Amino acid sequence: MEEMKKGLEGVVALDTKISYIDGIQGILKYRGIKIEDLADLSYDAVSYLLINGKIPGEAELSEYSRMLKENRRINGKQIEVLKEFEFGTEALDGLRTAISCTAHFDEENNHHTPDANKNKSIRLVAKFPTIVAALHRASFGEKPIEPMDNLSHGANFLYMLSGKIPTELEAEAMEKDLILSAEHELNPSTFALRIAASTLSDLYSAVICGLCTLKGPLHGGARKGVMDMLDEIGSIENVRDYTLGKLENKEKIMGFGHRVYKTLDPRARIYKDVARALAEENGDTYWFDMAEEIEHILYHEFIEIRGKPIYPNVDFYSAVVYKYLDIPAELATSIFAMGRVSGWIAHCMEQYSDNRVIRPRAHTV
Ligand SMILES: CC(C)(COP(=O)(O)OP(=O)(O)OC[C@H]1O[C@@H](n2cnc3c(N)ncnc32)[C@H](O)[C@@H]1OP(=O)(O)O)[C@@H](O)C(=O)NCCC(=O)NCCS
Repeated sequence: MEEMKKGLEGVVALDTKISYIDGIQGILKYRGIKIEDLADLSYDAVSYLLINGKIPGEAELSEYSRMLKENRRINGKQIEVLKEFEFGTEALDGLRTAISCTAHFDEENNHHTPDANKNKSIRLVAKFPTIVAALHRASFGEKPIEPMDNLSHGANFLYMLSGKIPTELEAEAMEKDLILSAEHELNPSTFALRIAASTLSDLYSAVICGLCTLKGPLHGGARKGVMDMLDEIGSIENVRDYTLGKLENKEKIMGFGHRVYKTLDPRARIYKDVARALAEENGDTYWFDMAEEIEHILYHEFIEIRGKPIYPNVDFYSAVVYKYLDIPAELATSIFAMGRVSGWIAHCMEQYSDNRVIRPRAHTV
């Protein structure tokens, strides 16, 4: 038998055209295009690119955006079902249940034709933000806010959350967040989803596998972990003792480290710029300064003293962005999923198009 690689570290499990990571140089590309060149597009354009394999032309983008807008609304019965549950401090539990519910109300749920999959893709991308915002509002007894069709995917989400039209910078920040979260090769949730797809399970079921895997604090849940950590630290004066104390106790610092990147994740750099711009617009650099201080202390500790390549990952400054957007920590993983759903769908389609069931072996010990 082959040698067992714990955590499948370094194992290449499949070929993909969807994204490319160079963890040494810090390069990420979606469909051959560098993330830095995609960050200023709209989320709709990047979603189209991931799912259809090319940047949309003007007419294609306008049609795609129109279909997304047309599908933003959710079934009233769904909201009634969701009100029955108490989701506590993790909205992703609600989102997972809601997607199961959406599948239940989708007549094409168990249809596997390319057309049915395309229709379901649009519904999934379009409805994720509406569901997350509705769940959040339901958690404090408020009714959902109807989507506003003249707002972008990201801006409309912020509007449905609070009822306030976001500033231009806030809207841009939300769009960028969704773009930067949209895809990342064979990360744990995408791998889990591809396993489900490889059994020819349906698109909703595969996406639910992705959601369940994203929830973990070593994956998508780290973003909430960083937000909680910033609250716990409370002030810039406490940063040093807190971070060094964690390291002494051999505890992980959320938002640092990566299986693949041995240098700064290119998304982290973009998030840092967005967080700084929001801090300046808000006239309050409290969260940004605290995060930067954590980064400085850990750079000194990991890179300069221990010679270990541990840098901020995608979850670190995104958490700071959420602080400035007034997003509660319990929504962080669900918002990550709102972006990631386009990448997940692309991977599902790629798996269906050239399938072999994914079934590794184990050594019996
Ligand atoms: C992302 C992560 C799971 C990668 O894990 P991995 O490739 O299995 O790497 P390991 O957990 O084995 O870490 C390797 C070494 O770096 C240390 N390390 C890695 N990330 C660390 C962190 N965030 N804080 C402190 N130490 C860390 C580990 O303790 C380990 O040290 P050791 O060699 O002395 O035992 C890991 O870095 C982590 O748990 N980070 C925090 C959670 C997080 O931000 N997740 C989001 C990922 S995008």
